[in-house]
Amino acid sequence: MKNNDVQATWKYHDDTKHSSWSVRNSPHFLDFANRPLPFKLYPTIEPRPLPRDLPQTGATALSAIAEPLRASRTEAVPTLQDVARILYFSAGITKQCAYPGGEIYFRAAACTGALYEIELYLVTGDLPGLDAGVYHFNPADVSLRLLRGGDFRENLAHATAMEPAVSHAPATIICTGTYWRNAWKYQARTYRHFGWDNGTLLANMLAVSSASGLPAEAVLGFVDAEVNRLLDLETRREVSLCLVPIGCVQGDSPPARREAPSLGLETVPLSQHDVEYPAMLQMHDASSLESEEEVLLWREKRTAVTSFAPAGEEIPLRPLSEEEQPKDTIEQVILRRGSTRKFDKTASITLSQLSTILDCAARGVPADFLESPGSQLNDLYLIVHSVEGLRSGAYFFQRERNTLEVLKRGNFRAEAYHLGLGQELPADACVAVFFLADLEPILERYGNRGYRAAQLEAGVIGGRMYLAAYAQRLGSTGLTFFDDDVTAFFSPHAKGKSAIFLLAIGKPLKGNAQ
Ligand SMILES: Cc1cc2nc3c(=O)[nH]c(=O)nc-3n(C[C@H](O)[C@H](O)[C@H](O)COP(=O)(O)O)c2cc1C
Repeated sequence: MKNNDVQATWKYHDDTKHSSWSVRNSPHFLDFANRPLPFKLYPTIEPRPLPRDLPQTGATALSAIAEPLRASRTEAVPTLQDVARILYFSAGITKQCAYPGGEIYFRAAACTGALYEIELYLVTGDLPGLDAGVYHFNPADVSLRLLRGGDFRENLAHATAMEPAVSHAPATIICTGTYWRNAWKYQARTYRHFGWDNGTLLANMLAVSSASGLPAEAVLGFVDAEVNRLLDLETRREVSLCLVPIGCVQGDSPPARREAPSLGLETVPLSQHDVEYPAMLQMHDASSLESEEEVLLWREKRTAVTSFAPAGEEIPLRPLSEEEQPKDTIEQVILRRGSTRKFDKTASITLSQLSTILDCAARGVPADFLESPGSQLNDLYLIVHSVEGLRSGAYFFQRERNTLEVLKRGNFRAEAYHLGLGQELPADACVAVFFLADLEPILERYGNRGYRAAQLEAGVIGGRMYLAAYAQRLGSTGLTFFDDDVTAFFSPHAKGKSAIFLLAIGKPLKGNAQ
């Protein structure tokens, strides 16, 4: 099984690290004349418009983030309005901005370079207001396009080796990644961005599903080729990354598996020409699961909670109580979210605000690769600049103990500036949260697919942190980083771990958007 040959991951990870040297010596430039389209367009398929006038869920953002609904025995069938709400607040256009080359259509979830390489598809049985089929979601006109008519859910159930949530789902959303749309700017590092950008989108999707009273979870164990075939993907360009079963039905199982012949549907080319980065195709191939038996074995390896005994002084976290928490709904917060472009470096946040963000975001992602609740692949390390009630310094988040362990005290704004690729954002923010993962045991357990899982989980937690910050009217932004320098900064505690993700939290400078 090629998934077990984890040298493929180490090669990809090491080859796509940022260092001062690699960034200084990169000959890459942005060819704006060849900038890819931000949407996948099927010119020959009629749109099926989704309702835009959606009833508010009324659920507060912080509770929707912190309390994902997990699959249960209770019946929960989405309506067309639920489907529209979940798709729109995950991947819909929330803002529009002119730039010299045209328009940028900003979306509900943060995405590297605003390039939006994650596409969404829906595989559904008959729902109130929607016939069974395989659909593509187009955020540009907020509509679905029918790729295959009929109920194909059993194809997904088999592709996931009868994963319970998928087998009982009235509908499943499939997230795919389109290489070139993001690689135009980020080249081979895009495979990491697939996890990050799919993850931020999933944070919204899980929260909005929960707010809609519908269980949802991330499913990474599936036979890649089966799902790609069902969506008729051209796999040198676009691949399935994650399945999200929505809702739950008991009783009759869906109709049997159906033939899914190639469709050869026309799509509008993204650019005049695209560039293929073999490193990403190899990484994807090496982390693909090839049979139901392999999926079953893979899923049995889900991880249990790991804990680290604290060695240093610990500061207890103090999340806001439910009564103290802001009451804005999840929809309001998603609409207002954006990435902070400039932080006020004279501002501070409170320990309660930071505690609330960590508490909401890191309670465990509902996913087939994690023991629920509470286990996690990524560890969180913080550089605190200005948090009232916390001295500036470097900390480790002791998740189960809900404390911050002091690693070293001091003012590390200059170090944060360097670690965040020489950007002011992590230096001017109040706190920079670094995600590190011990890849060796993760890969030993899950094979190369563990790399996909670690990147995706980081994106979900980071996406939840974005929302939890904006729910409290703070600002936040995802960031990229110098890989090995991050590990070195947090060592010896972080020795052997790999840098996966970075997020800065603070107060936006007044007069700057977000
Ligand atoms: C994982 C991740 C990494 C990011 N890295 C950077 C970065 O290094 N520098 C930066 O200025 N913005 C960064 N961003 C912010 C994106 O540019 C931003 O999300 C995108 O432009 C969309 O805008 P919005 O978040 O305001 O909707 C990052 C976002 C994410 C999700």
